[in-house]
Amino acid sequence: MNQSHRGGVSLQGVVKRHGALTVLHGVDLDIEPGEFFVLLGPSGSGKTTTLRVLAGLESISAGRVLLDAQDVTHQDPGERDVAMVFQSYALYPHMTVAQNIGFPLKMVGQGAQAIALAVADAAAKVSIGHLLDRRPGQLSGGQQQRVALARAIVREPRLFLLDEPLSNLDARLRMETRVELKKLQRSLGVTAVYVTHDQEEAMTLADRIAIFMDGRIVQVGTPQGIFGRPSHASVAGFIGTPPMNLLQATWSGQQLQVGAAGLVDLGVAAPGERAVTLGVRPGDLKIQATGLAAEVELVEELGDSRIAILHIGEQRVKLKTDHLIDLREGDLVHLGFAATAAHLFDRDSGDRLN
Ligand SMILES: Nc1ncnc2c1ncn2[C@@H]1O[C@H](COP(=O)(O)OP(=O)(O)OP(=O)(O)O)[C@@H](O)[C@H]1O
Ligand SMILES: [Mg+2]
Repeated sequence: MNQSHRGGVSLQGVVKRHGALTVLHGVDLDIEPGEFFVLLGPSGSGKTTTLRVLAGLESISAGRVLLDAQDVTHQDPGERDVAMVFQSYALYPHMTVAQNIGFPLKMVGQGAQAIALAVADAAAKVSIGHLLDRRPGQLSGGQQQRVALARAIVREPRLFLLDEPLSNLDARLRMETRVELKKLQRSLGVTAVYVTHDQEEAMTLADRIAIFMDGRIVQVGTPQGIFGRPSHASVAGFIGTPPMNLLQATWSGQQLQVGAAGLVDLGVAAPGERAVTLGVRPGDLKIQATGLAAEVELVEELGDSRIAILHIGEQRVKLKTDHLIDLREGDLVHLGFAATAAHLFDRDSGDRLN
């Protein structure tokens, strides 16, 4: 069944307090039906809390939660028609795989025959049809993960909430399961809200991403949009491997002064002199004949690429290149970058300027 007309989400001014501690500071968020939407941010930024608010597992201190334009702020989890998959799969150890998957249907009083059909169907969708008689203790981590997914899809919920569901898997299995998860979401047409602090996972899975920092959403956009044009210095410093270099600089006229290391011509004039944070991606930094004076600290070999760590005065930067570089600790070089590769942020507010 394609249900892509269902599962629209709207959070409006959601505040969550735990006693004196405010963990969500007025979160606004709109998710379209059928979207794969990722909540990405560092530990403690409020991702899980937001997901639990959507599920109805967490009451809110202010604001509204809408599902398909209906106010569900005060509805119990059972009334919301959403399914949640946790990082710990939370399977019942004494039940078989089939009983685990069928449990949500049994809870709503479906008959044995209907349950058996739905269980077989859900299990087939995640390729565990041959494991139905086992118990969770007799399964690998990846297989347990699939049981948890099957249990979530068996009810055909309108909204699929996933909290770091792949983090207990090893790197290879995580990548494989990631691809399958995306295909499954597409084929079901179900709306998915997926929490992770792994930006690679976010980039590969998401139609759109919301970046969380300290209980606030600082940017919403496509993976390309967020990578290419971070709206805030905190996002710039979080996205990319390694993330963007952030340097203290002064912007005046068309020129950027980076400490005593030199000037960069930006081609765009500042309105007066301005203290900025300059962002440049490691892959956009180049070694040139002239430019910002820098000293090599270390070169890391990554096989298909390499990362040089350098100092520009007191400030440390990373340069990433596919080319071989013949640099040693202590070498003095000059760094440059295209004017279009400069991301400028206000030094105080962190807001993007260009
Ligand atoms: N029951 C609670 N009581 C008090 N504080 C809480 C409670 N639950 C969460 N918090 C706090 O709320 C903040 C956000 O927590 P949340 O679990 O949403 O973060 P997260 O973004 O999911 O982090 P992680 O990536 O580590 O899972 C944290 O500072 C956390 O300590
Ligand atoms: Mg969490």
